[in-house]
Amino acid sequence: MLPQCYNVAISCEALVRIPLLGSNHHRQQYRPCPSIGPRRLMMGSNYESNGIWRHPCPMNMNVVTSSRSSCPINAVVLGEALASEESELVFPSKDFSGQAMVASLEKYLEMYKRSIEDPAGFWSDIASQFYWKEKWGKQVYSENLDVRKGDIKIEWFKGGITNICYNCLDRNVETGNGDKIAIYWEGNEPGSDGSLTYSQLLQKVCQLANYLKDVGVKKGDAVVVYLPMLMELPITMLACARIGAIHSVVFAGFSSESLAQRIMDCKPKAVITCNAVKRGPKVIYLKGIVDTALAESAKSGISIDVCLTYENQSAMMRGETKWQEGRDIWWQDVVPKYPTTCEVEWVDAEDPLFLLYTSGSTGKPKGVLHTTGGYMVYTATTFKYAFDYKPSDVYWCTADCGWITGHSYVTYGPMLNGATVIVFEGAPSYPDPGRCWDIVDKYKVTLFYTAPTLVRSLMRAGDEYVTRYSRKSLRVLGSVGEPINPSAWRWFFNVVGDSRCPISDTWWQTETGGFMITPLPGAWPQKPGSATFPFFGVQPAIVDEKGLKLEGECSGYLCVKSSWPGAFRTLYGDHERYETTYFKPFPGYYFSGDGCSRDKDGYYWLTGRVDDVINVRYHSYLPWAAYSKMKLSIWDFVFITNKFPVIRTCGSGHRIGTAEVESALVSHPQCSEAAVVGVEHEVKGQGIYAFVTLADGVPYSEELRKSLVVTVRKQIGAFAAPDKIHWAPGLPKTRSGKIMRRILRKIASRQLDELGDTSTLADPSVVDQLIALSDS
Ligand code: WTA
Repeated sequence: MLPQCYNVAISCEALVRIPLLGSNHHRQQYRPCPSIGPRRLMMGSNYESNGIWRHPCPMNMNVVTSSRSSCPINAVVLGEALASEESELVFPSKDFSGQAMVASLEKYLEMYKRSIEDPAGFWSDIASQFYWKEKWGKQVYSENLDVRKGDIKIEWFKGGITNICYNCLDRNVETGNGDKIAIYWEGNEPGSDGSLTYSQLLQKVCQLANYLKDVGVKKGDAVVVYLPMLMELPITMLACARIGAIHSVVFAGFSSESLAQRIMDCKPKAVITCNAVKRGPKVIYLKGIVDTALAESAKSGISIDVCLTYENQSAMMRGETKWQEGRDIWWQDVVPKYPTTCEVEWVDAEDPLFLLYTSGSTGKPKGVLHTTGGYMVYTATTFKYAFDYKPSDVYWCTADCGWITGHSYVTYGPMLNGATVIVFEGAPSYPDPGRCWDIVDKYKVTLFYTAPTLVRSLMRAGDEYVTRYSRKSLRVLGSVGEPINPSAWRWFFNVVGDSRCPISDTWWQTETGGFMITPLPGAWPQKPGSATFPFFGVQPAIVDEKGLKLEGECSGYLCVKSSWPGAFRTLYGDHERYETTYFKPFPGYYFSGDGCSRDKDGYYWLTGRVDDVINVRYHSYLPWAAYSKMKLSIWDFVFITNKFPVIRTCGSGHRIGTAEVESALVSHPQCSEAAVVGVEHEVKGQGIYAFVTLADGVPYSEELRKSLVVTVRKQIGAFAAPDKIHWAPGLPKTRSGKIMRRILRKIASRQLDELGDTSTLADPSVVDQLIALSDS
């Protein structure tokens, strides 16, 4: 089965004629459209007259003429001109394509074709470049993605015996790269830094691995890791992998309740944390959060014997740290005493590597389980091609290792390629919004991978924070986490990348392990805001609400046909939920939960979640919030308030189920009901908007509003705090009691003329009440 992009009749070298376009649509922010299917997508205000959801104006990419200079073209060649609002296509420069691993669409199509027609041959050729103690069996992969044919099962390289830590470290040392820098660590405060070569990293990993073995952690045991972006975080992940233990990293921004929930679910042999971390100017006492979580889980009968704690002196000295003798151990007191070599635990390709909890559309987070061999091959390969990786590159991904991006593209993918990686502890806008570019210049970063939310917040801070740094080293930029709106794309491209650097807008998920739809820089022209084409081995299918596969230009639900090596294998302890959530909605396919459209050139455009999941991108930005409300220029603001609008933001983003926030809200004694929806947010992409019904007789008050927000922060984490609490005397419900979120979404986004039919509600008058309370 050939992908839609076989229809593409373009070549980077060919001249493309594009009609001059009106460009209002480029300036639109994308409108999040959770919980609505393709029909609704097409009824939104971004619906174009040509019938395509959020797709740029019509263009004829098949008109190819003979010479680039002879026609009114508004395509752009990287490095030759600035991408303007009128440009639809951004071509890689000849220089870039000339050195790229995949230098043309033809080359991509040839490789893609083989990956689909002969997945076993394609992936085993790549897998052979890694170290396997024993080769996999005759069958390279086996799969069933069709619930109608039995249990869902995905296996790659089964019977192959390997170790991902060995492939990340020992293999690179043995091939002569022991002295190459593996990690540059940049601390929160400018000037605090460190580095480790591949040999040094291997030694540190071995010491921790020996310690873990000594305290009884064995192959198959879980280890919960609650660490910020210190070098000790990737060290811990690799040490677990070395001894066959399953790491479960919990983002160190989750609350003690969320941490306890995860500890109780996977029952780890040990918990690894640090005493505190500084984020911007603020100290966060992580050990206190862990103590509370451990006390909580002990109440449910899950007691943890070992809590290894790293003393993070830049944030807090050990004397000030609360301590439980017997259970708590200082990392620095024990780990350095262990030998710097440690035998590898060889594991089957299908043995579990890690668990990572992610939000679903019910209250309970899902433990996404990835196994070893396929994940290893897939993350390494996607990293290499999507960033056009060269051994001389210095790579920086701003994501935290607490999310999948930090697993696949801070730790495993880059290190499997022997890359030099930056691990950044701080906040990207501390001490000012130029920090990222300061780091880029300091380490001569060539590949910079981040999230649209960070791009947007830095864009708002002004170009001068960017242009005061050279950024000459940059080669390729990357984006992940949500659709990047064309204006942010253009700013990233023009201002940050000086119109030289292609942007890899990578679409993927915790579940997919690695990139699924992504540009290969140098291979084809980009369209700002489109993730472009599928990666090797990935067969996207856009289906309608009946599960019918749509062809050509269309909008619908994004599914994937057939497995790929990096796919998750199950939800920990709940294979049934795995099947129900991902494989039952559209039998025969993996369902991503995202809406998507495909234009007539075969380019894919992601339109956001279609389930009750919000893509929250965590920010804290004060007095930025005050600044943005005052509608003043930065300098007027500084003049009037004598304060500089600092944006503190954590570039990593993640998902949160509306049900999780709702269940936190209703745990408040004065809240009787809550309904949460996602709304468009200028900086964050999506904001959290909560409709709250109070218990009988409880009056609305500012204090109560704050206390509800605190409850959510406490139960889930600061990133899940609602941006808006809307008092709701009642919620719009059908006669069967189902909340009509469609209406709530419209009220939240003030699209009051698009409320649609409200006559089926049990009590239509609640809608007017809600509208009346909109600004209260
Ligand atoms: C969204 C993050 C548009 C999407 C790696 C997906 C994107 C969810 C993109 C997964 C992109 C991620 N364009 N949307 N380039 N990348 N998404 O599991 O809605 O934290 O389903 O993994 O983020 O989020 P997760």
